[in-house]
Amino acid sequence: MDMRTTMGFYEDEKTARQYIEMAKGYDGAELIDALHAHLPDGASVLELGMGPGVDLDLLNDRYKVTGSDTSQFFLDEYVARNPSAETMLLDARELDTDQTWDCVYSNKVLHHLDDTELASSIQRQLTILNEHGFILHSFWRGSGVDEHHGLRFHNRIEEYIRALLEPYFIVKSIVTYKEMDIDDSFYAIAEKK
Ligand SMILES: C[S@@+](CC[C@H](N)C(=O)[O-])C[C@H]1O[C@@H](n2cnc3c(N)ncnc32)[C@H](O)[C@@H]1O
Repeated sequence: MDMRTTMGFYEDEKTARQYIEMAKGYDGAELIDALHAHLPDGASVLELGMGPGVDLDLLNDRYKVTGSDTSQFFLDEYVARNPSAETMLLDARELDTDQTWDCVYSNKVLHHLDDTELASSIQRQLTILNEHGFILHSFWRGSGVDEHHGLRFHNRIEEYIRALLEPYFIVKSIVTYKEMDIDDSFYAIAEKK
């Protein structure tokens, strides 16, 4: 992955604001409701790739949240609106932190990682998860790699993610859903073994 072009899109104020406009009307409410069936109120949640913070606001209604992203622009924007918010500049590939959480959540972020980066991110997530911690991640469903505006989109299928997680997690559910087109997305919820 070319880190400069991939990060540049969301780092640049103009394109980051374009993303905010484009993403209006979309949120992870369905995903967060599904997570709530497993994760009790008050649990600690780290969101990877929080973007404008739409899901972070929803997560914050139930959980003790930390928002993170590689884009300082998104972090600054969110903290300007929510001065007491806990945020971190974190790359999902490295997760360079000693803090631990009960859950690691991402919504349409890990497709920016190639297969090797995704596998190492999962290993790092195991380290930063508390005992019996949960993950919830959503993906674009399909095959191959697309490129838009210099961003890479690694499409994935349910079986691939199940096989990646099963050695380390109890996979609780993998659910296919519609983001923009029918069955274009899926999410996985899993508990650390
Ligand atoms: C498609 S947006 C999704 C944002 C948010 N989750 C939402 O649903 O609106 C992808 C986000 O992932 C962030 N991102 C891209 N690569 C990342 C990485 N390696 N680690 C963490 N965040 C990353 C981008 O800065 C952007 O905010």
